[in-house]
Order: sequence, then structure tokens, then C-alpha cells
Amino acid sequence: MEKLQFNNGDSIPILGLGTWKSEPDQVYEAVKEAIRLGYRHIDCASAYGNEAEIGQALSECFKENVVTRDEMWITSKLWNDAHAPEDVEPALDKSLSNLQLSYLDLYLIHWAVVLKKGVPFPKSAKDMISLDDLPVSKTWEAMETMVDEGLCRHIGVSNFSVAKLRRLHDNARIKPEMNQIELHPYLQQPAMLDFCSKNGIHITAYSPLGSPDRPDFLKAESEPILLEDSTIARIAERRGATPAQVLISWAIHRGTVVIPKSVNPVRMKENLDAADVSLTKEDMKEISGIDRNRRYVDGAFWVFEGGSYSVPNIWDE
Ligand code: A2P
Repeated sequence: MEKLQFNNGDSIPILGLGTWKSEPDQVYEAVKEAIRLGYRHIDCASAYGNEAEIGQALSECFKENVVTRDEMWITSKLWNDAHAPEDVEPALDKSLSNLQLSYLDLYLIHWAVVLKKGVPFPKSAKDMISLDDLPVSKTWEAMETMVDEGLCRHIGVSNFSVAKLRRLHDNARIKPEMNQIELHPYLQQPAMLDFCSKNGIHITAYSPLGSPDRPDFLKAESEPILLEDSTIARIAERRGATPAQVLISWAIHRGTVVIPKSVNPVRMKENLDAADVSLTKEDMKEISGIDRNRRYVDGAFWVFEGGSYSVPNIWDE
């Protein structure tokens, strides 16, 4: 399995298991099976509500000597209601305790969006705090302290625009090393890839399969279904692969980390095997032609009347 290097010599397996939308009662078996199959990277977040079950699976795998802690790469994310500097360490401690770990490999700010403490998901603008009142730079200083204390080895962000990432990067004592964003052939984000490669920031592609199991409120009527795209199907046929494998392999060929979610052993194996699917320059060129700048997770759920967030200001577009 290919790995991407960090400055301190650490390396992240380019393909990991996504766990957003993995039900708590399924994710325990899924993670155990994934590790048996050869996955060495699990992407988690406190907001996914399943870290305790993932932690149970990890701890059993370590105890049964299936794998060691240092062979695994574990990422988690700070939820939006814990951006106040004093709330960062307790939030990280909670994830570590649920995951039964003493450190994370990577800790990310989940969104550049702030919720009042204890609000899991907002119902109105009253539940939210603006970035003017609680800027990312303050949260970031606390994230840096987490590295100093050895609670995580690397820090980064998720769902950040180029403008927000640049501001953070230019002012940070410890530079962000990852931006985890929605990325697939319908949302190729070339400017983000360019900015990150010039500044030594890795990218993780989430929803690489177009996230067909998204909750209904994130679905639009008659939206394009990525796994059924005719170009992807044609290339899959040509390469003797499945459409999902082409999507995963495309992300790897672009040098991005990719975290397809599955709780199904057959599909988890299929997705892992995508690391061995080769795409030609011609295949990649054809896929670059199907970009639609289509966000499936567009952040509209952070937008309320009287609030400070809008879809354009979240993405700076
Ligand atoms: P399941 O968990 O039952 O396998 P994304 O990673 O873009 O969020 O997509 C996850 C969704 O895609 C889930 O519904 C998952 O279902 C499904 N999925 C995962 N792997 C495959 C695959 N190889 N082929 C088709 N669907 C897949």
C-alpha cells in the first residue's frame, strides 16, 4: 500500500476506511474485518457517534496481535461545539478515551463553523457563534498544544476553502498538514490541489464514491449519481475493475488520500483492491472532463436566517 510522507518521517496509508454513516452496531465488525483484510488507516470523528465501537474493535485487534498500534493510522476530528481553546483538550481526550488510544495520528478541525458548547447540531442562528467571535486561529493554537503534549502527532483541518487554509497556514506556528474535503470526479477542486501541493499540505478525499448513503436532507432531486456515471463505467469495463474501484484509484493517482466508507466485507475488499487498479493518462484525462463542481455536502445545514454563515462564505466562492 502506497503511503504519503510527513516532514517528521511519519507516513499515512493512502487508502483508509471511512466511518461517517457507519452505524454503531455495524462499525465494530466492519473495523475488525477491515483490519483483517489489510486496512491500516481508519478515519473517525466524534460527530459520527461511533468512536466507542471503533475503539472496542481496535483494542481487540491490538490484544489479539492482529496488528500493533504503530502499524495503524487513526484520524479523528474536533466537533464544531468545542472550538473554544479550553474545550479542545477535553474533546480530544473524549475521542481518545472512546477509541481506547493514548494518541491520535491526526486530529482535524472538522469545519470552519462554530456551534455553542453542547449543541451537536444547530436548529437556528442562536445555536451558532461567528468566526469573528471565535476565530479559527484561536482554536488552532489549542490544536498546536495538543501536538506539544503528544496527544496527536499531526494536526489539520477539514472542509476548509483555499482562502481559509492559506490564512491559517501563513500564521500558524505548527502548519496544517492535511485538509480533508469532499473530492470526487464531480468535484475535482484543481485549485485546492494546486495550493496544497505548493504548500506541503496533504489532502484526504471524502465521499469518494459520491456518498450514496447520505441522509435525505443532503440529497437533491434528480442529482447525478457518481457510481452510475457512464464515463466511469466505460473505464471500469476497460480496466476490468468496478466503478467504485475506478473512483478510488482516480483519487490515488491524483496523490490524495482516499477514505471510501463501507461496512460490507465484500465491498471493503473490493475497495482495498482498488489500490492495485492502474489508470492510464488517457483514463485520467477522460475523468477530468466530467467535473461538474457538484458538492454533495454543501454546508447549507449551517445557514440560518440572521446567522453569519452562508454557502458562499463557507467555501469562499
Ligand atoms: P456499504 O457501507 O453498504 O458498503 P462514500 O465513501 O462516498 O461516502 O460512499 C459510501 C457508500 O457507498 C455507502 O452507501 C457504501 O455502502 C457504498 N459503497 C461502499 N463501497 C462500495 C462499492 N465498492 N460499490 C458500491 N457501493 C459501495
